[in-house]
Amino acid sequence: MPENIPETFKALRIFDDEHGYRAEIVDQTIDDQSEGDVVIKVAWSGINYKDALAGTGKGKILREFPLNGGIDAAGVVVRSENKDFDAGDEVVITGCGLSETRDGGYSEYLRVPSKWLVPLPKGLTLREAMLLGTAGFTAALSLWRMEANGQTPDMGPIVVTGASGGVGSIAIDILTRAGYEAHAISGKVEQFEWLRSLGARQCISRKELYWSEKPLDSAHWAGAIDNVGGDMLSGLTRVIKPWGSIASCGMAGGIGLRTTVMPFIIRGIGLLGINSAGCPYAIRKELWSRLADAWKPAHLDLIENTEAPLDGLGPHFENALEGGSLGRVVVRVGA
Ligand SMILES: NC(=O)c1ccc[n+]([C@@H]2O[C@H](COP(=O)([O-])OP(=O)(O)OC[C@H]3O[C@@H](n4cnc5c(N)ncnc54)[C@H](OP(=O)(O)O)[C@@H]3O)[C@@H](O)[C@H]2O)c1
Repeated sequence: MPENIPETFKALRIFDDEHGYRAEIVDQTIDDQSEGDVVIKVAWSGINYKDALAGTGKGKILREFPLNGGIDAAGVVVRSENKDFDAGDEVVITGCGLSETRDGGYSEYLRVPSKWLVPLPKGLTLREAMLLGTAGFTAALSLWRMEANGQTPDMGPIVVTGASGGVGSIAIDILTRAGYEAHAISGKVEQFEWLRSLGARQCISRKELYWSEKPLDSAHWAGAIDNVGGDMLSGLTRVIKPWGSIASCGMAGGIGLRTTVMPFIIRGIGLLGINSAGCPYAIRKELWSRLADAWKPAHLDLIENTEAPLDGLGPHFENALEGGSLGRVVVRVGA
């Protein structure tokens, strides 16, 4: 057994077999895990909507069973067969098939291919990296794609839907830091003050929203970061100003999309698909360095909801799937 890796360690493993669908803490060895040329001692992970779907079985996330859960991990390299990584290096990994096609970050040790590892950039701690996690990375990727498509602060306000969740709350903070006027659409009216403290200049109740059925309606916003999908995304396409972009990140409210070609050919708006898990490595590295610097949220302390132990994730999964998320839950793995 290589140095620094114990014979057995704890992991939250997801099964679907004759005993049913379940996530439970197991003892495992490093050789029980998917292949990889680097082993990390995981310090922190986080909870994303996708983790909640995977952990409860309410969404089809895992393509094989059993696998360790957790789409994110941050920790320290303890063994490396790649000369670019040495024992002691601090690294971050998000998406890349974790808890989908291979073992994920809810594990005290994680074996992964080094080609996906991002060295922890200066300006972030491992814990902060997982407070951001896939949620923060997705918010950054959304803004990056919008700006690549011509979005600028002087075009007007950007609206964020599902604003109280992980992606939403971080998006509001990052947009504000980047010079945009951020507006929030949320189902949680009681959290409007909190959303304002993150930078939201206007808060709109999701429950009081009305979208007309017209192909185009009065244009309210210069762009949008949408975590909800369905009727929300359909409605947004009708009210974005000419040449604005919508980043389509999520489907917390549905997977449908009812719109027409009118917003695209009359107003020239862009509908940008956001796929954080498969983001190319060069963009991945660039976004993590922005998240550590110019786009580092100014209110990570407010965005942190709570810290959960590896054996205490169940209630957080249920809460996320009921629409109850508020900011981010960081998961203490081996820190
Ligand atoms: N494309 C990607 O690469 C990528 C990456 C990360 C996440 N996502 C997706 O983005 C979405 C948000 O992820 P997250 O991790 O931020 O989740 P989260 O922290 O659980 O937040 C989700 C938020 O969506 C809103 N919401 C929940 N249920 C809803 C419903 N039935 N109708 C309308 N709004 C609802 C709620 O906000 P309010 O109460 O404030 O409205 C909730 O706080 C999820 O669909 C997730 O799968 C996609």
